[in-house]
Amino acid sequence: MARWNPRIAFVDCFAGPGEYAGREFGSPILVLDIARKFVDRGLLSPTAFTLAAIEFKKRSFENLIDRYNSYLQIHPQMSGIDNYFRHGTYEEMIGHVQRHLNELGGGKVASFYFIDPFGVSQTPYSLLSNLLAPDKAEVLFNLMYEEVNRFMEAPEFEAPLDTMFGESHWRALRELSGAERKSQTVQYFKSRLINAGAKHIVVFEMRNDHNATDYFLFFATKSMRGLEVMKEAMWQVDPSGAFTFSDYTHSLGPMLITPQPNYAHLQDQLLHRFRGHRSVPMKEIRDFVLAETSFLRFRNEALKPMIARGDCYVERTSQHPSARLDADAEITFLSKPGTSITLF
Ligand SMILES: C[S@@+](CC[C@H](N)C(=O)[O-])C[C@H]1O[C@@H](n2cnc3c(N)ncnc32)[C@H](O)[C@@H]1O
Repeated sequence: MARWNPRIAFVDCFAGPGEYAGREFGSPILVLDIARKFVDRGLLSPTAFTLAAIEFKKRSFENLIDRYNSYLQIHPQMSGIDNYFRHGTYEEMIGHVQRHLNELGGGKVASFYFIDPFGVSQTPYSLLSNLLAPDKAEVLFNLMYEEVNRFMEAPEFEAPLDTMFGESHWRALRELSGAERKSQTVQYFKSRLINAGAKHIVVFEMRNDHNATDYFLFFATKSMRGLEVMKEAMWQVDPSGAFTFSDYTHSLGPMLITPQPNYAHLQDQLLHRFRGHRSVPMKEIRDFVLAETSFLRFRNEALKPMIARGDCYVERTSQHPSARLDADAEITFLSKPGTSITLF
């Protein structure tokens, strides 16, 4: 973020303590520690960085302030950062944070909001739309699927779920069960984030130590570059491209065989989208892969084998006389893949 923006902010809307009993940092201090590594490498100026945190529980808030101060004593190079910590609820305090950021950067601060609540009742949809309104705002939202799935059935949770989703259409999900309910809930929440102002969404599934879905992390952005960076991060956690992390498989230790991405699936998606299209610019293919699929890389991994198989070919023009698969190439996808074309 710092590479492209003069001022950046990380806003931890449900911050938790600075450090947990097991001596693990909470998310605000983890982020501060990551920011320090960029400061140490000269890639981020501490004065261009805001760390904002909201926490409702007094003890956790005090612990956060305490750990933050000790952190600055150990790493004085971070003392120039702009901190904005508020004790109170997200609902009460987020407006103050937004005003603070506006005063600092006139609405141009690139802001990353982390929304990591317990349960469903503290994150009204109207606030989400406010957060996602500016161009340079991104949200990482933890949807507690295990709870949402259970609460859907309980009459006392109808009102909180209406507030979280910003409407009552979620009730149709109650007609579904199992994997279908899960995938439709993900699709539904994606559509709510798009409706709130996001352009691109990428979802990461977190499974518990029984390998059952615990929660989903939804990343919402308006920026194609932001989408690409987040997908790169998610590919590092799950190199299969399925965007899942399981405490169960993690507890079994390192896997002997690293899971491989299924590029045949990407090839199917490319054919479905572009079959019969002539001279498709590489940028259009790249944007499709980034925004519409879970994949990131595609040139050597998917297109090259497709060319070898005769599904598509590089269009040669006077501007692009070579058959190389570079960024300027245009690709023609055959209507009947696998058949070679006859040139008259
Ligand atoms: C899941 S924990 C956050 C964990 C933290 N993000 C981390 O990774 O270390 C949720 C936190 O939100 C706090 N909380 C609960 N309701 C809140 C509200 N309405 N506004 C702000 N904080 C709240 C809880 O006290 C708890 O510390």
